[in-house]
Amino acid sequence: MATRDPMQAGARWLITGARGQLGRTLCALLPARGIEVVAADRARLDVTDVTAVARELETASPDAVIHCAAFTHVDGCEQEPELAQRVNGDAPAALAGACRDRCLLVSWSTDYVFDGQGGVPWREEDEPRPLSVYGRTKLAGEQGVREAGGEHLIARTQWVIGPGANFVRTILGAAREGRELRVVDDQIGRPSTTVALAEGLLTALEAGARGTLHLACEGIASWYDLACDAVAQGARRGLCPEVPVTPIPTAQMPRPAARPAFGVLDLARARALGVRMPHWRTALSDYLDAEREDGR
Ligand SMILES: NC(=O)c1ccc[n+]([C@@H]2O[C@H](COP(=O)([O-])OP(=O)(O)OC[C@H]3O[C@@H](n4cnc5c(N)ncnc54)[C@H](OP(=O)(O)O)[C@@H]3O)[C@@H](O)[C@H]2O)c1
Repeated sequence: MATRDPMQAGARWLITGARGQLGRTLCALLPARGIEVVAADRARLDVTDVTAVARELETASPDAVIHCAAFTHVDGCEQEPELAQRVNGDAPAALAGACRDRCLLVSWSTDYVFDGQGGVPWREEDEPRPLSVYGRTKLAGEQGVREAGGEHLIARTQWVIGPGANFVRTILGAAREGRELRVVDDQIGRPSTTVALAEGLLTALEAGARGTLHLACEGIASWYDLACDAVAQGARRGLCPEVPVTPIPTAQMPRPAARPAFGVLDLARARALGVRMPHWRTALSDYLDAEREDGR
């Protein structure tokens, strides 16, 4: 069976993890682009259930599957490595097998496949060396997708900000509650909003992107930089008071999972495809405008 063009008029895309940050944004945005959405949240489709996955693909007959479901709680993965392997490692591989000869699979992955050593942005072909169970299991998922041999795009991203629980929302909530904000300043990445990622993915797919692609907002930041900007921009919109943020080293905030120090993804391939990602400050501003609208 030949795969169909996922960008054809009236295409139908199945979104796994449809109630997560990226899933929700894609489900909201795609219909305006003429793409019919089959929103498969966890209640409709447990991606670790191989039989259910096969049945869903048969019923929905999508032109593309955008795999957004994942066990994304990085420290939680350290506590539950077997579950992490099932969700992040085995499920994408099985999904890729089910999509082979049927439709394109887009599977999201992460900068946490890299060890974050050095100060040069990570290119798609750089050697992964994950530091955590989350990173190792996401890498296993990538490898499973590649080995299945079907048409695929592995879209690695980082520091995702969208509808639902995320770092910016946590910071604004803590600021409102008057809690002291101590934030690490020695982990560097690219804060990326789900709206910018969804738009970037569409442009990349229109350009025919396949294989592995890094997608993230322009500009780099530490978590401290992001917290400072979130508080400053949030305060201007009445979303939180203007409160001080204190930079601290990661060593002062030990967590179960190690994180890459320099996780910045190289965007050269995305740029060459014509993808124009906004700077993270601009994307954050749009995100906060939407949050303020939602709060009204
Ligand atoms: N968040 C980030 O900063 C970040 C960074 C880099 C890469 N990524 C990658 O980007 C993708 C999307 O991330 P996100 O931020 O949108 O994640 P998210 O908000 O945590 O959403 C993930 C969704 O997957 C669902 N899920 C978990 N286990 C499942 C299962 N067995 N079957 C079906 N659904 C299941 C979750 O449901 P429940 O809510 O019920 O658990 C949740 O709705 C993931 O591949 C992630 O690894 C994220």
